Amino acid sequence: MIGMNLLAIAVSFVQCIRITNMRMQALLTVALAIPSMFSGRPKGGFTSHLFNNAKMDVLPSRTSGSKWLTQIQDHFDSSNTKTWKQSLVQQYFFNYEFANEDSNVNILFIAGEQNAGLQFVKGDNSYVHYASQLNASLYALEHRYYGDSHPTEDLSVENLKYLTSRQAIEDIAEFIRQKNEEKKEEQKWIVVGGSYAGALSAWSRLIHPELIVGSLSSSAPLLAQMDFYGYLQTVEEDLKKIGGPCHDQLGDALTEVGNLLQTPEGRQKLTALFLLRPRFSDFNDITNNDINYDPVKALKTVNPYLTMNINFTDTVLELSGVGFEGDTSSRLWLYQTCNEFGFFHSSDRGTSVFGQTQPSNSFIEYCDQIFGIDADQIQKNVEATNQFYGERDYYAVMNINSSIHQLKIGTNVIFSHGTQDPWSFLTKKNDPKHWSVVIVEVE
Ligand SMILES: *[C@@H]1O[C@H](CO)[C@@H](O)[C@H](O)[C@H]1NC(C)=O
Ligand SMILES: *[C@@H]1O[C@H](CO)[C@@H](O)[C@H](O)[C@H]1NC(C)=O
Ligand SMILES: *[C@@H]1O[C@H](CO)[C@@H](O)[C@H](O)[C@H]1NC(C)=O
Repeated sequence: MIGMNLLAIAVSFVQCIRITNMRMQALLTVALAIPSMFSGRPKGGFTSHLFNNAKMDVLPSRTSGSKWLTQIQDHFDSSNTKTWKQSLVQQYFFNYEFANEDSNVNILFIAGEQNAGLQFVKGDNSYVHYASQLNASLYALEHRYYGDSHPTEDLSVENLKYLTSRQAIEDIAEFIRQKNEEKKEEQKWIVVGGSYAGALSAWSRLIHPELIVGSLSSSAPLLAQMDFYGYLQTVEEDLKKIGGPCHDQLGDALTEVGNLLQTPEGRQKLTALFLLRPRFSDFNDITNNDINYDPVKALKTVNPYLTMNINFTDTVLELSGVGFEGDTSSRLWLYQTCNEFGFFHSSDRGTSVFGQTQPSNSFIEYCDQIFGIDADQIQKNVEATNQFYGERDYYAVMNINSSIHQLKIGTNVIFSHGTQDPWSFLTKKNDPKHWSVVIVEVE
């Protein structure tokens, strides 16, 4: 499974260019700060670091803190009356600092595939600013299974069956219903989120317009895709657009890495340079600061702290743990990709600067070995997801409550994305079916 790790190296190389897009910055900062990545995703998620700096100052106060919500385990099976209680609860965070008597506006930040925290509702975030402008109550809801929100006793494959975006959307609806009940007078809810949570915020508005008045959806991949070749394609276009030596150096470096893999000396060099686990062999220290003429060292220099496990069996073992302790988000997000979205950043087009470093088969192997979900099933799951949410071009769902199959078109959403963001390949870009769906593209 060396391919996967070469990709992680390659993606990190993007640091040698200045990309103003927020997500790329997030990605790069995380790549520097976090020692380990899986599936091109740093442990803890892409955006967690945005909040980490603020963490120390963020303490509960009279107007802010966290609470627990009793949540329904399965929103689609009325014979399952199980709720999450005591240790099985859903966590949310609140900030009433800006709320005043006259305002009935609520902003709900959807936390995606990561732990939520109080820093999500305090600090210097755009939606905190919106809350202050609107005198709104601000909330952040942790996604089921992530962080401390545990709908099941453990993470066995059987128990992961409630980990779906559709259940998460119903969690959002149930949270709002419970809050409305508490608050009595009529409330207005705006849901916000980015990336996968951006998709959840757009979809929850689509499915529950009776509860949610509108949504801000940032960089949301509304199109599910198994072989997400557009990710690296966009990265390559970005590299070319920005100009300079970056694109060609990356190509040289990856070619050279390919060559080094062929010989014992070469593998020893790679082991040392990239702190590979397990070692290809015992290694001698390479301490040459002059990286100018060595593209492979340049590749390493842009991401000095990244360490990688190149042992497939070992990685499978690591991701097969069913406990809630430690970092569970890699297992959980991998499951979500196998079970609903795909999103496998592959280099299967073959003609790019990335060569053949990252076949989508490497992801499929993980799905198969860890969850028993094979390629055919993943493809079916991805199609079912697109079918259900109506893909990005329609942004519509079938009204399942209607005897005639009636299409519900989404309204009141602002979709935003950066053109240099590799995920923008799957975001909604054009053809709004309703005037109130606005697409904002940031160069
Ligand atoms: C927010 O509250 C302030 C102070 O009570 C008030 O002046 C302002 O008009 C309110 N803003 C909104 C959008 O309701
Ligand atoms: C890879 O990991 C497995 C499981 O931990 C282990 O048995 C095997 O020895 C490892 N291979 C190498 C080359 O370290
Ligand atoms: C479905 O339709 C019925 C009858 O029109 C209505 O009472 C019910 O509230 C609807 N349910 C949902 C979830 O919209």
